[in-house]
Amino acid sequence: MKTCHKIYFTNAQHLTDLPSESIDLIVTSPPYPMIDMWDQIFCGLNPQISETLQQHKGVEAFEQMHAQLDMVWAEAYRVLKHGAFACINIGDATRRLGDNFQLYPNHMRIMAQMLRLGMSCLPLIVWRKQTNAPNKFMGSGTLPAGAYVTLEHEYILIFRKGGKREFKSPDQKKMRRASAFFWEERNLWFSDVWMDLKGTRQELAFDARHRSRSAAFPLELPMRLIHMYSAKGDCILDPFLGMGTTMIAAMIAARNCIGYEMDPSFRDPLYERLLKSADAGKAYVNKRLDQHAKFMSERSKIKGPPKYTNIHYQFPVISRQETELLLNELVSIDKDGVDSFKATYLDTPQALFSEAGTHQFANDDNARKTSKTAHRFRQMTLD
Ligand SMILES: C[S@@+](CC[C@H](N)C(=O)[O-])C[C@H]1O[C@@H](n2cnc3c(N)ncnc32)[C@H](O)[C@@H]1O
Repeated sequence: MKTCHKIYFTNAQHLTDLPSESIDLIVTSPPYPMIDMWDQIFCGLNPQISETLQQHKGVEAFEQMHAQLDMVWAEAYRVLKHGAFACINIGDATRRLGDNFQLYPNHMRIMAQMLRLGMSCLPLIVWRKQTNAPNKFMGSGTLPAGAYVTLEHEYILIFRKGGKREFKSPDQKKMRRASAFFWEERNLWFSDVWMDLKGTRQELAFDARHRSRSAAFPLELPMRLIHMYSAKGDCILDPFLGMGTTMIAAMIAARNCIGYEMDPSFRDPLYERLLKSADAGKAYVNKRLDQHAKFMSERSKIKGPPKYTNIHYQFPVISRQETELLLNELVSIDKDGVDSFKATYLDTPQALFSEAGTHQFANDDNARKTSKTAHRFRQMTLD
């Protein structure tokens, strides 16, 4: 199996290379209106914004910045297939302009625009980002009526174009079943507050200079959303690609991906990052299998042996829907022409028997004999 990944270094307000109804899922994070670090981008798109800020007209600047994002959302709506999802990570902003300190509710403004475009709003996720910074409380300290609540969360807004996606052909149904996630992952991922996304940035090669400039989100964020809202072989779009975290997640999850990024100076560090991500892919697959083994082991101690067995791995699973789940191990990521990459996968789970592998199938005699960690999975899950 192979997937393709293409980057366009141009403004996503015009997705002219993409036909209408060609995208299965959007996962993205735009520049945040009214957060200083993104002023330059918005002022570049509309120089009037600079004057508005200088005149301390906060609400007007907020609107002008969102008018720029609206153009991207309109294109996003056009290119999405019927039944496809869009997941947008956004934080609200607080800012003092002149004497006025106030909240600029970016998430609310984007939701309103998506509704206007005809998208259905679905329950959203609050991404809790607790900070212990000593200066986190703003305003009048311990005296009343002049202190402000600290913003310690962002949002993942979830939209769908039209009604439920249909998987009609036998092949589409098979791919959907192979793209299932574990029951215990479902319980965590579909909770409306995500608290545990810390620490995942370190999994990827990432020069600190580029991290702060791009405001990249942790790999786990697009990873989850891609598994939740798309099937293997789908095409994912990130119109604000930055350092390509969505594209890396798509590569690891065996989905195709298209990214738009306006700033061409990202090209070299982005490509370096993409080409170094195959190991992160292997680690991610192993981590999911390890976590599943641990979960099943603990659960079966309390609840007894589970009812279902996964046909590829011969390990126990909780529900019938997980019986055909298959994680495609990423073997390599290679350049495939100008601004294009291809990712190559093993189609079977055999690689898990490799020397470094930590898993094995209970029904593979050879693997039982040769693997250093023989029977580990079986012991963990069935003892
Ligand atoms: C918040 S960052 C995205 C970070 C990304 N999620 C990651 O993990 O690296 C937003 C990116 O969008 C880019 N950008 C802003 N406006 C754009 C536009 N109209 N078209 C394309 N890219 C744009 C910025 O240069 C920036 O790299």
